[in-house]
Amino acid sequence: MIQMYNVSKCYPNGVNALVDVSVTIEKGNFVFLVGPSGAGKSTFTKLIFREELPTSGQILFDGKSVTRMKDSEVPYLRRQIGVVFQDFRLLPHKTVFDNVAFAMEIVEAPRRKIRARVPQVLDMVGLAEKAKLHPHQLSGGEQQRVSIARAIVNDPLVIIADEPTGNLDPETAQEIMNLLLSINGRGTTIIMATHARDIVDNLRRRVIALDGGQIVRDEARGGYEAGDDGAAFLAALPKVQSGLGSSGSFGTSGSFSNPGSLGTMGRHGTTGGLGTTSGPGTTGGIGHPAGSLTPSPYRDPQGGDSALKPNNSTDDPGRGMA
Ligand SMILES: Nc1ncnc2c1ncn2[C@@H]1O[C@H](COP(=O)(O)OP(=O)(O)OP(=O)(O)O)[C@@H](O)[C@H]1O
Ligand SMILES: [Mg+2]
Repeated sequence: MIQMYNVSKCYPNGVNALVDVSVTIEKGNFVFLVGPSGAGKSTFTKLIFREELPTSGQILFDGKSVTRMKDSEVPYLRRQIGVVFQDFRLLPHKTVFDNVAFAMEIVEAPRRKIRARVPQVLDMVGLAEKAKLHPHQLSGGEQQRVSIARAIVNDPLVIIADEPTGNLDPETAQEIMNLLLSINGRGTTIIMATHARDIVDNLRRRVIALDGGQIVRDEARGGYEAGDDGAAFLAALPKVQSGLGSSGSFGTSGSFSNPGSLGTMGRHGTTGGLGTTSGPGTTGGIGHPAGSLTPSPYRDPQGGDSALKPNNSTDDPGRGMA
């Protein structure tokens, strides 16, 4: 999905924000980027959607060179990547509906599709009732849900979230995490830069730790700090499941729900890759059934919540995209 080969980024002022970074992020991964302030996390994310270009090295997104692509191809790249920021970045004079619709207008989606798709995603993030409000009339958590709706509306392969819970209280942060996990459970790759130690420690997902622009740690089920391989956390879990890897039972021990192994059977793995599908002018953005992804910190997605099951070919008419 995303490959970086010997990527370095030196800003014009001489700061070496990334130094010789090589890493692969697979389809369906949920990756936390951690590290001290200035470590290079935001730079890492910006290189993926070509907000910045590396000084040296190569970056591939879905097999295509991000560094060498023509400017005319950049909108197509960005359509595959939904971005969520700490400060939401909503347009203040647009309604909730129009903020989300705007992301589809940019990719020239037909109005008919916009009218059908936006209510779907607002429903998914639990904001169907707030479509006509403006951002200033929403709580921080609600604003972040709008920004997530905007990020997913074009059905991207990857969501990049740069400290998405940084401005939120712990409970609201947890709701946002549940939403991101639900989206990941449907097959979307998620890369999240964060300083939220408790979230990283609870979820035990892949952790890539940066320090001084270098990857200093990359663990499949890491914690926030180095030296903690998760063994103590796993040992403390009740032994009620036959294997964490296949059952995704973390949700039973922590307060985060966890779609667990759903990610491995998500929709993107079955569609044959976007390289063979539509160009930037088309949208196919009607993909998701109108299942609710309304965040709930307490539900167990393994316990029969159909809304969290991955899309499949029978209930997902827009999936083909071409
Ligand atoms: N546009 C820029 N021009 C010059 N230097 C920059 C620029 N953006 C970032 N830097 C520098 O690059 C380094 C990495 O910054 P980056 O924003 O990637 O760190 P970060 O890990 O995201 O930090 P934080 O946790 O504070 O968000 C820092 O030294 C920063 O000052
Ligand atoms: Mg940052």
